Amino acid sequence: MRTDVTSGADVERLVNSAVDRYGKLDIIFNNAGIAMGGSILQRSEEDFDRLVAVNLKGVFLGCKHALPHLLDNPDGGVILNMSSNGGLIGRPGDPLYVATKHGVMGLTKSLALAYADRKVRANALCPGPIDTAMIWANLEDGADREDHIRRVVANCPTPRMAAPEEVARAALFLVSDTSSFVNGVGLAVDGAKAAGVFNADRYRMDFQLLD
Ligand SMILES: NC(=O)c1ccc[n+]([C@@H]2O[C@H](COP(=O)([O-])OP(=O)(O)OC[C@H]3O[C@@H](n4cnc5c(N)ncnc54)[C@H](O)[C@@H]3O)[C@@H](O)[C@H]2O)c1
Repeated sequence: MRTDVTSGADVERLVNSAVDRYGKLDIIFNNAGIAMGGSILQRSEEDFDRLVAVNLKGVFLGCKHALPHLLDNPDGGVILNMSSNGGLIGRPGDPLYVATKHGVMGLTKSLALAYADRKVRANALCPGPIDTAMIWANLEDGADREDHIRRVVANCPTPRMAAPEEVARAALFLVSDTSSFVNGVGLAVDGAKAAGVFNADRYRMDFQLLD
């Protein structure tokens, strides 16, 4: 069903149509999101509003409209929100995106606390570099694909992009009963990127030292 996640009316209609069709709601996965690179000096107020509208308000609307149905479900329900590796650590290259994904983490943890005693779990996924359209969106015509991959994975201890299926399997774990006591977490699916800083031969060493 065509849905703009920044529209409360759209999201409510989507959720209600699922409940009408299936008689109940078991799971909502708030996955839609947009990327936006650039420093805070390069990004405008409109950029910020757009990013917050899709990445954070969209998740809020999905949770808000799904929750009454999840609470009504005698078997309980599951919320899964798409955060990012950038929801766990800061990143200098895309601070607004990172801010929205930290917001998703705050919402997810708070919902987990609020509804744990009502059989509704809320968790988030925090992927690293995944080979989807998002990664390739800003690649200019004729640009070197391997060079692009190297830049994308340069700060990832596991030097490759993951396939979307590797994230999907983690999503299935979090929405299934296999994870029945996992609540309020952001599961990193990021090849150890959020585990800490690391030194690797592939880091540039020709940076300028400060006095
Ligand atoms: N690809 C990565 O490396 C990566 C890493 C971490 C997190 N994520 C997150 O994963 C999620 C999925 O992204 P993806 O990698 O599949 O990228 P993608 O660009 O392939 O998919 C994003 C999807 O969101 C939809 N979307 C955008 N704005 C929307 C709106 N207003 N209403 C409804 N749908 C809208 C797009 O139509 C698209 O189908 C996003 O939340 C993204 O931030 C991606």
